[in-house]
Amino acid sequence: MRKHAMALGGAGLMLGVSLMAVQAQDLTGELPDPPAFAAQSEPVFVSISDILEYKALPEYHEPAWVTSKYVDAGTLPPVAERLPKEPMVYKTANMPDGTGVYGDTMRHVIGGRPEGWNYIGGQSQGWGGIDIGMSECLTRTGPLFEVKADELSPLPNLAKSWEWSEDGHELTMHLIEGAKWSDGEPFTSDDVMFYWNDNVLDSNVSPLNGATPETFGPGTTLEAVDDYTIKWTFQESRPEQYLYAMAYGTFCPGPAHILRPEHPNYSDNTYEQYKNAFPPEYMNIPVMGAWVPVEYRPDDIVVMRRNPYYWKVDEAGNQLPYLNEMHYRLSTWADRDVQAVAGSGDFSNLEQAESFVEALKRSAEDTAPARLQFGARTIGYTLEMNLSANGWGEPDDRAQSVRELNRNLDFRKAISIAVDRQRLGDSLVRGPFTAIYPGGLYAGTAYYDKASTTYYPYNLEAAGELLDGLGLTDTDGNGIRNFPEGGDDVEITLLANTDYGTDTSLAEGVIAMMEPLGLRVIANFQQGTARDDMQESGQFDWHVRRQGSELVSVVQGTAALAPTGPRTSYFHRAGTDGSVDLLPFEAELVDTVNAFINTSDAAERAELMKTYQKLYTENVYTVGLTQYPGALIINKRFANIPAGAPIFMFNWAEDNIIRERVYVPEDKQGDHELHPETLPGAPGSDGAM
Ligand code: GLA
Repeated sequence: MRKHAMALGGAGLMLGVSLMAVQAQDLTGELPDPPAFAAQSEPVFVSISDILEYKALPEYHEPAWVTSKYVDAGTLPPVAERLPKEPMVYKTANMPDGTGVYGDTMRHVIGGRPEGWNYIGGQSQGWGGIDIGMSECLTRTGPLFEVKADELSPLPNLAKSWEWSEDGHELTMHLIEGAKWSDGEPFTSDDVMFYWNDNVLDSNVSPLNGATPETFGPGTTLEAVDDYTIKWTFQESRPEQYLYAMAYGTFCPGPAHILRPEHPNYSDNTYEQYKNAFPPEYMNIPVMGAWVPVEYRPDDIVVMRRNPYYWKVDEAGNQLPYLNEMHYRLSTWADRDVQAVAGSGDFSNLEQAESFVEALKRSAEDTAPARLQFGARTIGYTLEMNLSANGWGEPDDRAQSVRELNRNLDFRKAISIAVDRQRLGDSLVRGPFTAIYPGGLYAGTAYYDKASTTYYPYNLEAAGELLDGLGLTDTDGNGIRNFPEGGDDVEITLLANTDYGTDTSLAEGVIAMMEPLGLRVIANFQQGTARDDMQESGQFDWHVRRQGSELVSVVQGTAALAPTGPRTSYFHRAGTDGSVDLLPFEAELVDTVNAFINTSDAAERAELMKTYQKLYTENVYTVGLTQYPGALIINKRFANIPAGAPIFMFNWAEDNIIRERVYVPEDKQGDHELHPETLPGAPGSDGAM
């Protein structure tokens, strides 16, 4: 007999007096406003046309050593021949410190580890900006933090322009013409089609950042018109929203000429072999990004050198990037903060609240090597409950019973009000940083509406009564509630990412707070990649997770706001029969998100997000935990860091600051390059050809 047997229908019939009392009781309360905390610098708002254009320039330049060592030696074509017909040109007026000079390195420190280089095949490069620097996407959104609100639309990138058909169902995009991969092979619509047909549409492949066909709308098709033209056909009319999905990380094609021969459709490989065909030791994987991996030492470092075929220039015709090298020290995320503050690293997104006080103290000193600037409260954590009851992740009996609890509103409410959010936030850091987060859209962001936010404050007693009402009582007297009718102890596993102290601290906090409620929550703490795999495959009951950009910007990652497709949600995906067993309020969430995607009317969109927020928070779609600001820490020697660059908004700061335009003035350049005067794949680099 299933000892977890859990018939909530039955429990409903046995409703005790206490539950009636709780239901009559209003569990909602006044949501305190977040403590005042001003962002420390504001962007200068501009139009996209102020930032960049595409055009041919009369002459082009490159670092002198590239000309003398490679071009003059005949191993590399002249720069003008390496650039596309009309390169992307960054405008000087939008560069905070103007035209840059070549040289130096940005020394990143990261907590992740590269699984390999097959990004579109689903391999992680270790995060922290490695993949952002290697991959270029059809459009770009990171820099949108400084674009005027009424002109908000993704920046062109690999797609340099586009137009809609009259009925709005077709979108024709023009790709940059004559651009090349870092090995000199042409970039064409063939790369785009390989990504789409053999990676997105092929359900055996899961591109790293979760692109699925539904990310671009149900029934959407894509075709190549010619080498530099692609055509999208949408069921909806003018769904401009999908332009955001064509940015990082859901539409960044890989090098088809290298990847295709390994793909099962064109080889004898299995999908697993395809995914793993480019291990971290494989050097010089062709990229469209500004830097190429040329050295890898396990648990030590990834070194990247400038891409000699990079297709972006400044107005003087200097080929970008200005920085010759990028380092990624393979350490921990906490060490990234420490090193950036101390000056042995150059960059950090200060995002683990536990490090705030120390980092602030050190950075305030005049001699501090790095500047630290706080932005808005765009880092948030929730407790996500696995809402699939039809087989996603193949739950055993115990897990299935938990899934059924997760799907019960009284249960979710009970968990929510058993969490003391103030205490949880304070346990990370005291002071005006953290704010009570009831879930849903973040306070302080464009679509947030307090009046549409339902808040269930901490109320342990009522939480207990709600669980009693569900028939979850401690029948064997061991302090843990049992499933109804003499069932087993209620045991729930909680997934969290050990790469971040904050994730595990919050998860431990939740576990501790469930104890007085009589629920045994068992830590399932996993290192990043394993955590990702368990999440992707649905093997979790609960998950404490840092939230994505969809809750900050709404327009980026929109499809993830609800289970709009079989694989778009982080905690509710299709079960064994391929369908998502949506709860009624989730179906409403899906309709709301789809309606948002289908309209570009600003007033309508604002109303739809109010509905979304109401449905989300009223139904405790997830249990919001805490929300706080992050700070960008960057060494003072770097120039061209835009004012008000947030660590996280449409994308992470590694994209937002437009690293290919960042430079170090000559008098501040340090001796940081590990492979000076080398190019990827060229003699003298570790990945020598
Ligand atoms: C990790 C880090 C973030 C950011 C991203 C970039 O998630 O925690 O701060 O660097 O990588 O992908």
